[in-house]
Amino acid sequence: MELNQLPLVLLLISNIHSGHTEDFPKPTVTVEPQSSVFTGDSVTLRCELDQTGVSWEFLWIKDSKTELTEAASKTIDSVKVSDGGEYKCRARREGHYTNYSEPVTVTIYERPKAKVTIKPDQHVLRGETVTLRCDTYSEGVPGWQYSWYKEGSVSVFSELQEHIFSPVAESDAGKYFCYGAERGGSRRSQNSDAVTLTVSELRAVLSVSPQKWLTEGDPVTLICEVNSSSTDWTLTWYTVTISSDYSIHHYKLLSDSRNYTVSSAALNHTGVYVCRAERIKPAYYTTISNTQPLWVTGCSPPVSLVINPSRTQHFTSVSLSLSCEDQSNSGKWRVRRYTESWGLQDCSSSVWGSQSGSTCTISSTITSDTGVYWCQSESGEKYHPVNITVHFFVILESPVHPVTEGDSLTLRCLYKHSTTQNLRANFYKDGSLIQNQTTEMIISTVSKSHEGFYYCKHPERGESPKSWISVKGVSNKCCCISSHSESQISVLRTLSSVLAVCPYLLVTVVLIFKCCRMRGFTPDSR
Ligand SMILES: *[C@@H]1O[C@H](CO)[C@@H](O)[C@H](O)[C@H]1NC(C)=O
Ligand SMILES: *[C@@H]1O[C@H](CO)[C@@H](O)[C@H](O)[C@H]1NC(C)=O
Ligand SMILES: *[C@@H]1O[C@H](CO)[C@@H](O)[C@H](O)[C@H]1NC(C)=O
Ligand SMILES: *[C@@H]1O[C@H](CO)[C@@H](O)[C@H](O)[C@H]1NC(C)=O
Ligand SMILES: *[C@@H]1O[C@H](CO)[C@@H](O)[C@H](O)[C@H]1NC(C)=O
Ligand SMILES: *[C@@H]1O[C@H](CO)[C@@H](O)[C@H](O)[C@H]1NC(C)=O
Repeated sequence: MELNQLPLVLLLISNIHSGHTEDFPKPTVTVEPQSSVFTGDSVTLRCELDQTGVSWEFLWIKDSKTELTEAASKTIDSVKVSDGGEYKCRARREGHYTNYSEPVTVTIYERPKAKVTIKPDQHVLRGETVTLRCDTYSEGVPGWQYSWYKEGSVSVFSELQEHIFSPVAESDAGKYFCYGAERGGSRRSQNSDAVTLTVSELRAVLSVSPQKWLTEGDPVTLICEVNSSSTDWTLTWYTVTISSDYSIHHYKLLSDSRNYTVSSAALNHTGVYVCRAERIKPAYYTTISNTQPLWVTGCSPPVSLVINPSRTQHFTSVSLSLSCEDQSNSGKWRVRRYTESWGLQDCSSSVWGSQSGSTCTISSTITSDTGVYWCQSESGEKYHPVNITVHFFVILESPVHPVTEGDSLTLRCLYKHSTTQNLRANFYKDGSLIQNQTTEMIISTVSKSHEGFYYCKHPERGESPKSWISVKGVSNKCCCISSHSESQISVLRTLSSVLAVCPYLLVTVVLIFKCCRMRGFTPDSR
């Protein structure tokens, strides 16, 4: 202003001489930016008069209300909707006024907020297709350029109005927000609210009811569950096998029911099962479930697994032989096993053992050899599963095969480093001490009540693993029903409810019933 003082004075003089208001040029109002603006933006209004260098006062009037004397240029830093309206100005000098400028309308819109839509849902499953869409709308904005941000990152995540994850991965989970900016302009929407995308995995969990160890003819149900509230699942059942090239295969079983029920287990139901669930719409496959083995022991399997040394528990670093013996000695049998550590394995894969004829030899045992071993034919028949436990130092010597009621049972506690003497140890059944400080435990007449988990413990040497000792009844020795029909089961059920009050009668009737229905009576070969 000070710089302009000299010309100002000169002009003042000349204007005083002219004296006519009408001669003054009319000011014009300019607005910057020219487009409509959003609340929060800044707007600059200028009152321009074609007479530079002359000292004018400027008067502004908005919406024909009060006139205010202000600078030629006024900036509203953060506009409100109420700042919009019709503006005009005029200038004054020494009591003389110019005409008003043409009015200029300033339009202020509420700043739009971007909106996110997420389809099909913000909670999705891995592998699904998820679309994030950003929308914003404001009158007078012809086009928007969108920007997406993901929480935890400063860089733009995407510039597409619709960002599609196909297929969505767990790493895509997070919080997202977007905004729109005017194409070729300066207006910008508010950020959208953040949306949280969660991506989860569904697992199929396989369990068995009532138990995985069965006797031929027992009913069993495999239950496949999915941790999802949705119920539109189709379950696929598989049985796992390893083929001659040692690759693992899942063979589809024909069952589309929720749980796979076997009303009467046959020997060939022995095996390892998995399941998985499938949803048609939207398409989704769960991961394959945990493996669930099922063991069916028969009264008279055509082949027996003979273990040498003949006991359930074995020390580490010893040699163990497992032979499949059948009457015909056909030699077509192979030993397979299922262990916690390695799953399903074939002895002839020679990683852990070596198969020669029908005999599998483990040259040096390790604790992870603990598992279930059985005989299998090339065509997939599986017989005589047995438990084998491998342990350091202290083991329980117990029979591999079920003990018959009335027979005697001898248990010993063996210590690896004393070959001659058995340990003086305590013997436990189902966790309770039954005999202490003895070298062996003898039950002279075994009854069904002796069935249970046994182990032995020496105060210094340590304790053995637990082994299950099963007792088979002498009366129903191999009175196995090879095949129940549904009607037989329901008749049995009816009978049992009718006779529940009379246990002895019930047992008698059921036994008679079973024995009458059985297909073949084959005494136990052992
Ligand atoms: C000023 O306004 C009057 C009447 O409103 C008009 O006659 C005159 O021409 C205007 N002068 C200029 C310079 O526009
Ligand atoms: C299902 O279970 C898996 C593994 O336990 C877990 O990661 C996932 O979040 C669960 N999904 C749901 C929907 O609960
Ligand atoms: C079999 O599945 C149904 C649901 O489909 C369930 O109600 C039932 O308890 C299952 N059976 C067993 C033995 O768990
Ligand atoms: C078991 O064997 C019988 C015939 O002996 C056969 O019908 C059935 O399909 C077999 N089951 C399995 C699970 O292999
Ligand atoms: C193997 O051990 C389990 C317990 O771990 C037991 O339930 C099952 O009856 C045993 N099987 C045989 C054949 O002894
Ligand atoms: C067996 O243990 C009990 C206490 O648990 C003890 O009283 C008893 O003397 C022990 N018997 C022998 C033979 O050590």
